[in-house]
Amino acid sequence: PRITFIQPDGAERTLDLPVGTTLMLGATQNGVRGIVAECGGCCSCATCHVYVDEDWADRLPPPEQAEDEMLFGTAAERLPNSRLSCQLTVTEEMDGLVVRIPDRQV
Ligand code: FES
Repeated sequence: PRITFIQPDGAERTLDLPVGTTLMLGATQNGVRGIVAECGGCCSCATCHVYVDEDWADRLPPPEQAEDEMLFGTAAERLPNSRLSCQLTVTEEMDGLVVRIPDRQV
């Protein structure tokens, strides 16, 4: 599935990621800037924060409690479409997903 990452300056990268990886791993392994992922994906740092495109917000599984709690600790403002990219596992249904990267993670 193709996932597009948009930087705060508007630069876009579209990656074709394998099903089963996470958005965080896909981004960091492909050199997408702006995803820090200090904790390595165990939902304890909130430095992998992304904003899911509004069109997609309702089409993704809602955050589990641990993600929801961690989202209160994001460096950039938490918005209704905020998610932790390490908790978003890529599925076929995500083809075309667009996420925006916040201007800071720490
Ligand atoms: Fe730490 Fe996602 S990588 S919470």
